[in-house]
Amino acid sequence: MMIKKICCLGAGYVGGPTCTVIALKCPDIQVVVVDKSETRIQQWNSAILPIYEPGLDEAVKKSRGRNLFFSTDVDSAIKEADLIFISVNTPTKTYGFGKGRAADLRYVEAAARRIAEVAVGKKIVVEKSTVPVKAAESINKILRANMRPNVSFQVLSNPEFLAEGSAVNDLLNPDRILIGGDQTSEGKEAIEKLCWVYKHWIPEKKIITMNTWSSELSKLAANAFLAQRISSINAISAVCEATGACVSEVAHAVGTDSRIGPKFLQASVGFGGSCFQKDVLNLVYLCECLNLPEVANYWYQVIEMNQFQRTRFVRRITEKLFNTVTDKKIAIFGFAFKKDTGDTRESAAIYVCKHLLEEGAHLSIYDPKVNAQQIIHDLTRPDITEEPEKVLQLLSFHQTPYSASEGAHAVVICTEWDEFLHLDYKKIYNSMLKPAFLFDGRKMLNVEELLAIGFQVETIGRKTTRNNVNRGVADCIL
Ligand code: NAI
Repeated sequence: MMIKKICCLGAGYVGGPTCTVIALKCPDIQVVVVDKSETRIQQWNSAILPIYEPGLDEAVKKSRGRNLFFSTDVDSAIKEADLIFISVNTPTKTYGFGKGRAADLRYVEAAARRIAEVAVGKKIVVEKSTVPVKAAESINKILRANMRPNVSFQVLSNPEFLAEGSAVNDLLNPDRILIGGDQTSEGKEAIEKLCWVYKHWIPEKKIITMNTWSSELSKLAANAFLAQRISSINAISAVCEATGACVSEVAHAVGTDSRIGPKFLQASVGFGGSCFQKDVLNLVYLCECLNLPEVANYWYQVIEMNQFQRTRFVRRITEKLFNTVTDKKIAIFGFAFKKDTGDTRESAAIYVCKHLLEEGAHLSIYDPKVNAQQIIHDLTRPDITEEPEKVLQLLSFHQTPYSASEGAHAVVICTEWDEFLHLDYKKIYNSMLKPAFLFDGRKMLNVEELLAIGFQVETIGRKTTRNNVNRGVADCIL
C-alpha cells in the first residue's frame, strides 16, 4: 500500500507549513489539513495566511486546490486518510498535577479519541506534536480501547524540527527526519510507508528510524540542548558586562573550537518561542517523575538563566534611565520572539514590556509583523498584569520605528529584525529627548556608530564606557 491521502489535525505553525511542503513535493498525494478553528481554516484559504513565514505564501499558492486542502471537516478527512498527522498544540499545563511543568496533552488525547471514533480501515497515526516520552503509548491505548471492527492502527512518532522564521527552508532541506515506531513487522511496515512519503524529496541517508521512545525523547533532548547553549552564552554575557570582556569575542573564540561549533552562541535578552521553555519544562517534569531530581534541577537551570537574563536587561534599562522609568516614553522595536515570524509566544518582549509597564513607563511599540491586537492580548493577559485597563493607557502602536521613537527617552530593541540594521539612527536620535538611550537586547547594532551619533548605548554582553561617548568610540573596560 502506498500513501494516497494524508490528513493533518492542527493547522498551526507546524501542521500548515509541513503539509504545504508535503503537498508541494508529493503531487501524487492528497493532503487535507483540518482544524477545529474555523477562523484559522478561513485564513489558510484566503490571500492572507494565518502565519508569516518566508516562502510560505508562494508554496501554498502552488498546491492549494490541487492536492492541498484546508478544511474544518475533521471527520471526513480522518475517514479518507491512509495516514493521519497529529499536529495539535501541547502547551505547558496551567492547572493540576504537573502545573507549570508537564505538557498539557488534552488536545492530543481529544484528537486520538476523534480518530478512534470515526476511522475506518487501516490507518497510520503519526504523532508530530512534541510530547512527553510514552505519549505514543497513550495514543495507542486510546485507539485500541475504542477500536471498532475492521479498523487497525499503527502509531508512529515523527517529531518536527522546523524553526519558525525559516520553516519552509527547514522543511525542504531538513538536517534529518526522525521516525520512531514499534519494532514489530507491522510497525516497521508503517515506518517504511512514512519513509516513502519523505523520500519524495529527502535523501534516504537523512531519514533516521528508531524505537518510539527514543524518537520522542530525541525531540525534547534536541530542544533542551539548543536552549542550554543560549542560556550558557547568556550566562557568560553577564560576566562580560561585569568585567571588560566582550561576549561576541568570547563566543567567537569558543565557537571556533570544532568540538563546540559556532551556532546558537548569540547572546541576547533571552530565548522565546512556543517550544524551548515548554519542552525543557517537559523534560524537567519527566525527570522528576522518574525520581531523577539532580537531572531535573540541571535542566531547570536553563530556564532560570533565561528568566535571569530578561530581568537583568530590564533592570539595566531602569538603572541607566536614572533609576526611574515612570511616565517616560520608551520605544519598543520588535515584539515577535524572533525575526521573520509574527509569533509572539513566550517572546522576551512580553516580559521586558511587563516590567517596564509595572514601573509606569509609556511604551510605543513597533513590529513589522505583529499587530496591535496581538500585543494587547499578550500584555493584558492575567499572568502578565492585574490591571489591564492601566496597561492599555500606557500603550501606543506605530506603523514605523520613526514615529514610535519620536519624543522617546529610550529605544529598546527586542527582536532582531533585519530592517533595524538599516534605519536612519541619526534621524531617530534627533527626534528623541536627550540624553537619548538605546538598549540593544539583540546585540545587533554597531555600537561605535551609535555612540558617534550621540546615543547612550547599552548592549548585551559588553560594557560601554560613559566617557567614550565623547571620544566617539566604545571600549571594553576592566
Ligand atoms: P498551534 O497552536 O499553532 O497549532 C495547533 C492547532 O491545532 C490549533 O490551530 C488548534 O486549533 C488545533 N487543534 C487543537 N486540537 C485540535 C483537534 N482536536 N482537531 C483539530 N485541530 C485541533 O501549535 P504549533 O506551533 O503548530 O505546534 C504544534 C505542535 O508542534 C506542538 O506540540 C509543538 O510543540 C510542536 N512543534 C512546534 C514547533 C514550532 O516552531 N511552533 C516546532 C516543532 C514542533
